Amino acid sequence: MTMSETTKSGSVAGTPSAGRLDHIPGHLGLPIFGSTFEFLKDPFAFHDRRRQEHGSVYKFGVFGGQTVALYGADALEFVLMDREKIFGSRKGWRLLDKLFPNGLMLRDFEDHRSHRRIMQAAFKPKPMQDYMLRLNDGIANSMQAWSPSDRFEFYPAIKNLTLELGASVFLGLEIGDEAAKLNQAFVDEVAASVAVIRRPWPGTAMGRGVKARAFLLNYFRDLIPVRRKGDGDDMFSQFCKATSEDGAFFSDDEIVDHLNFLLMAAHDTTTSALSTMVWALAAYPDWQNAVREEVLSLGTEQVAYADLDKLELTERVFKEALRFRPPVPFIPRFANAPFEFGGYEIPGDTSISVSPGMVGMTDEIWTEPSLFDPDRFSDNRAEDRRHRFAWSPFGGGAHKCIGMHFATMQVRAFVHQFLQHYQVALPPGYTPRWQSIPIPKPKDGLPIILSRT
Ligand code: HEM
Repeated sequence: MTMSETTKSGSVAGTPSAGRLDHIPGHLGLPIFGSTFEFLKDPFAFHDRRRQEHGSVYKFGVFGGQTVALYGADALEFVLMDREKIFGSRKGWRLLDKLFPNGLMLRDFEDHRSHRRIMQAAFKPKPMQDYMLRLNDGIANSMQAWSPSDRFEFYPAIKNLTLELGASVFLGLEIGDEAAKLNQAFVDEVAASVAVIRRPWPGTAMGRGVKARAFLLNYFRDLIPVRRKGDGDDMFSQFCKATSEDGAFFSDDEIVDHLNFLLMAAHDTTTSALSTMVWALAAYPDWQNAVREEVLSLGTEQVAYADLDKLELTERVFKEALRFRPPVPFIPRFANAPFEFGGYEIPGDTSISVSPGMVGMTDEIWTEPSLFDPDRFSDNRAEDRRHRFAWSPFGGGAHKCIGMHFATMQVRAFVHQFLQHYQVALPPGYTPRWQSIPIPKPKDGLPIILSRT
């Protein structure tokens, strides 16, 4: 019997056919569109309804495909740890295949492992310390342009700041005039990932996304000769010099593809997390004061790499922001072989979805999950330790976010400078409305009251 004829737990799977998901509860929605519009309106409410109706394993149809959702922390662990090498990421992230076809997250198994090993050189402590200097200077420079206002749109300001940091740390560039063009290119790529029309026709979101990809790849490619020769400490230069175990370098095509994905993965996620965090600091002034006190206790204008771990409360608020509104709420995979989960036999060649976002909101793990309560991460409460995958905004297993420590460092460096100089408050009666996918962002730019300390 071959792999495709047996389930990974050893029993015979249902024969793949047109109705091969018939035995799985749930429904696929309308022909062609499935339930895409209902899902896009509010993905969390969509999955809540489905789960209440069907239980922890159910099928649904979005973006022209059929997917089986596996709900819960056990499901996250089973799929992401993938001990039996069933679940591929490339076909799981099929919505990104025209935009980031060769990014690290879209590589699988041995090919993924070898690329990740080369890339990891750029995330070792020595380069991280160099990035830290660039981050601190970049934050100070960008923040100088921020003026106190009763209606300061935080989201576009922080998006611009993280783009400038990305250009400096990842590319070794000071961007000026090109900032708006680069920013728009990333916006177009990300928007295309959830485009309802999946063909790159002119005038469509996917058309704009594919054009943006071509622009960015050319932009990076032009810089390769200089980065290969130079001795820069930016990530681009690291990728130009990093080698595999047998001494092979990344090719030019691989470098530009990796940079394109990495900048997107770093930029929008951190922007989203910082927007949630600053909203929370504005909404909960006691937390804002406590974090400011911690920041001031370091007694330095910029936080040193060696002092990052002293910012414990900052970390607690960051963790809670990631639980409350995770930048990557759903993680897709593709089952290459049949398997069994939750009492169901799921055939091979099936798209799978697991969700750190849904698990972050379950009262099976968290106490009053709808409350923003950073103390749930304190040592004496430690709600995040109730399950290995209770808190997994950075994913887990082979594809666990390679930039997790970088993101944590950037967030601490930002908050450390920001709270020394500014106070934030929410306008009276204001509640932001958030768009949840592909990466959460406030629909109205997050207008806050910004004043000097
Ligand atoms: C708060 C910020 C961030 C969050 C919440 C986040 C979240 C994630 C998640 C959930 C994954 C796993 C996806 C999967 O398993 O399919 C991932 C992968 C990845 N992230 Fe992040 N990320 C963040 C910041 C960053 C930063 C700053 C970088 C780069 C410096 C980065 C680069 C990557 C890369 C390259 C991958 C693919 C890893 C692989 O496939 O081996 N991310 N991220």
